Amino acid sequence: MSPAAQILATLRQQDGVSGADLALRLGMSRAAVWAHIEELRGAGFEIEASPHRGYRLVTSPDRLLADDLLARLGPVQVIGRDIRVFQETNSTNDVVEKLARDGVAEGVVVFAEAQSKGRGRLGRQWLSPAGKGLWFSILLRPDLRPQEATRLTVATATAIARAIQQQTGVAPDIKWPNDLMIAGKKVCGILTELSAELDHVKYIVLGVGVDVNLASGEFPSDLRRIATSLRIAAGRVLPRPELAVAILQELDREYARILRGQFADVADEWEQRCTTIGQLVSIRLGDRVLRGRAEALDESGALLLRTEHGRLERIIGGDVTVEK
Ligand code: BTN
Repeated sequence: MSPAAQILATLRQQDGVSGADLALRLGMSRAAVWAHIEELRGAGFEIEASPHRGYRLVTSPDRLLADDLLARLGPVQVIGRDIRVFQETNSTNDVVEKLARDGVAEGVVVFAEAQSKGRGRLGRQWLSPAGKGLWFSILLRPDLRPQEATRLTVATATAIARAIQQQTGVAPDIKWPNDLMIAGKKVCGILTELSAELDHVKYIVLGVGVDVNLASGEFPSDLRRIATSLRIAAGRVLPRPELAVAILQELDREYARILRGQFADVADEWEQRCTTIGQLVSIRLGDRVLRGRAEALDESGALLLRTEHGRLERIIGGDVTVEK
């Protein structure tokens, strides 16, 4: 952790700490501590200094700062060991894809305050305005077969739904395979991109977009009908860094469960949150449309669809519409 991150972590643990204590703890001079405090103030942290109580963290900015996120996150097993933040990039999935090809270790998370070419599934665009959401991608190198990669999408949706519920009190539904919905409108999407050989996954880029603080007027009119934000659902503006940290903690926990072979536990919670199971659905797969009842998930995370002709089909992708 950088010195600024260590100072933030200490200020979060202790309500008031002297410059001398900080200097001792970090092994630097009091002047150097003061310079880092000034740097943090410059980044928008309100830090009070008084002769009696020392330094106190009063407020934090609603900005994504790698040091701040690392300091809040604390120890993790894999996801969030390395966090990088861009003010703007084309797509965080592209940034992580490049890190993957450069051999960077799994667990790195790349956030962007804004994306100029955010993309969704099936070649769609993903609206990513500055400071309004969480737009990030994670590099994973799991020991899985390509056909088991859907497990990660299922685990991701479950972890994010749980974190959103903790932070906002609103419980999103999951629409298979990867949409989080509130009151029938999409609030979060997941884009899983895979590089694999025949029998094993080389790496996975897990891209997540959460609409956090968009007001309804900030969605283009064609999206207003189908998309929502946590701000609209919860009726208040939410602190993005806190939500980001809660999401990473839950993702780290779920990833560890997948690696321990406990997918069945993840799937149980997923099924409780999923509104697709039990419904009559139509699934568009390229030019083909399959209709039937969504019965369950199989052990690799695929959807089992009982078609209108009575056959059981295993679906690993596609666009699902719940029939009314
Ligand atoms: C979907 O279509 O539902 C998936 C949307 C995924 C959007 C996220 S935002 C961060 C990451 N970078 C991208 O370009 N896309 C994903």
